[in-house]
Amino acid sequence: MKKLLRIDSSARQSDSISRQLADVLQARIEQQGAVTVQKRDLYYEELVKLGNEDQVNGYFTPADQQTEAQQHAVAGSNILATEFAQADEYLFAVPMYNFGVSAALKTYIDLISRVGVTFKYGEGFPIGLLENKKAYVIVVTGGTPLESDYDFVIPYLKVFLNFVGITNIEFIKAASTRNNIEQALIDAKNNINTLEIS
Ligand SMILES: Cc1cc2nc3c(=O)[nH]c(=O)nc-3n(C[C@H](O)[C@H](O)[C@H](O)COP(=O)(O)O)c2cc1C
Repeated sequence: MKKLLRIDSSARQSDSISRQLADVLQARIEQQGAVTVQKRDLYYEELVKLGNEDQVNGYFTPADQQTEAQQHAVAGSNILATEFAQADEYLFAVPMYNFGVSAALKTYIDLISRVGVTFKYGEGFPIGLLENKKAYVIVVTGGTPLESDYDFVIPYLKVFLNFVGITNIEFIKAASTRNNIEQALIDAKNNINTLEIS
């Protein structure tokens, strides 16, 4: 059965636009065929932040050579990176925070980018290990135009996903302001409802 990993990264819950849109898209994916859905809600889970030397050194030390402190420091990252690598599809719900992704999403990315799990080193350059995956990325702003000079969300996520090998990416964009929020939601939902889901 196909594994879908849904990653929410808004600090809002009930009024969150990215979550509303992700609910619509998740429902569409579920209608399409058998799928198991695993969820990560990045502001509402205890993510171990990348925050000490043992963790950094543990990232680059083979598991059988890690000190006990390193093993302990990378344990949370091991779980998240393995889970990410094992998914077939991804549904990212991404609000723009200060022109980029939220701190929680950046933290998550620092935890799942692991040598030997999501990428490896080729001759001097990294090679993504995640092949034949599909990512849906819902990006919501409060008015900053997406794919403009002020948008560091879409270009960053494209580079990151490509880096781990994910090249089949569908961006769903909702750049709304208070005045056109209703219309932006309708447009984004229409867009989701006409997406080709394989
Ligand atoms: C800390 C913070 C920073 C934000 N920065 C921006 C920004 O740089 N540009 C923008 O257009 N909207 C910005 N917004 C607005 C959010 O992108 C917008 O409210 C969006 O709907 C949030 O997603 P959500 O509805 O899923 O919570 C910011 C909101 C917060 C809370």
